[in-house]
Amino acid sequence: MSTATSTSTATSTCSSFDNGRRGQFNAWFFTTFGQYISHISRRQKQTAFEGIERGDIVELGAGVGANFDYVPVGSRLIVIEPNLAMHTGLLQRGTDRGVDLALHAVSAEQIPLPDSSVDDVLCSLVLCTVEDQGAVLAEARRILRPGGRFRFVEHVAARPWSPRRWLQETVRRPWRWVFEGCDLCCDTAGAIEAAGFSTVDVTRGRWRHSLFFPANSSIYGIAVR
Ligand SMILES: C[S@@+](CC[C@H](N)C(=O)[O-])C[C@H]1O[C@@H](n2cnc3c(N)ncnc32)[C@H](O)[C@@H]1O
Repeated sequence: MSTATSTSTATSTCSSFDNGRRGQFNAWFFTTFGQYISHISRRQKQTAFEGIERGDIVELGAGVGANFDYVPVGSRLIVIEPNLAMHTGLLQRGTDRGVDLALHAVSAEQIPLPDSSVDDVLCSLVLCTVEDQGAVLAEARRILRPGGRFRFVEHVAARPWSPRRWLQETVRRPWRWVFEGCDLCCDTAGAIEAAGFSTVDVTRGRWRHSLFFPANSSIYGIAVR
């Protein structure tokens, strides 16, 4: 556990959003179930996030900070989180964890960082929710230094014609509304493979014993710039 003092700055732009009670519900949901979700996805997160070295690290859509335990002490963590409802919990988690945190209230389709300026970009359960996956992946690749790693753990569309895929299609619209844009039927692996990284290591799998059956189809891995 870090003993460093957590610092934070917030930058608001028009790409931030606040969905009122829905945002508050999601902040509550990810605060309440964050540990459970990290537990059932621990195999995926260990593969994708463990071994991050101290350096300049960006997390996209960090929510209320579920992945801060994977950020080495002494790193500089830049968080891109447009959802204002997440910020109180996010900043609190950063303080508790002792992370040196810079928070940008912007969407990851336009990241306010220079080219080739960071060592690692990570995200979990975010590419299902962004408006433009291609733009986000292009931005992740742009800000990484050559050899830098894009680390991801995401839920995706289940295999066509499977019972889970049928359920995903059935609940897709209400799920999307409740979870502020989250699409159960994304081909995120295809988008990452098409994003121009020099290598992409992607594995399909399932969370362990998840209560969230429609979202229990995952990919995880590392893409290197
Ligand atoms: C399902 S939550 C996951 C939160 C966190 N990563 C976790 O694993 O607990 C999706 C997160 O993506 C954020 N998000 C939505 N659209 C985004 C965008 N365009 N750019 C960056 N983050 C976005 C949401 O605000 C939310 O915090």
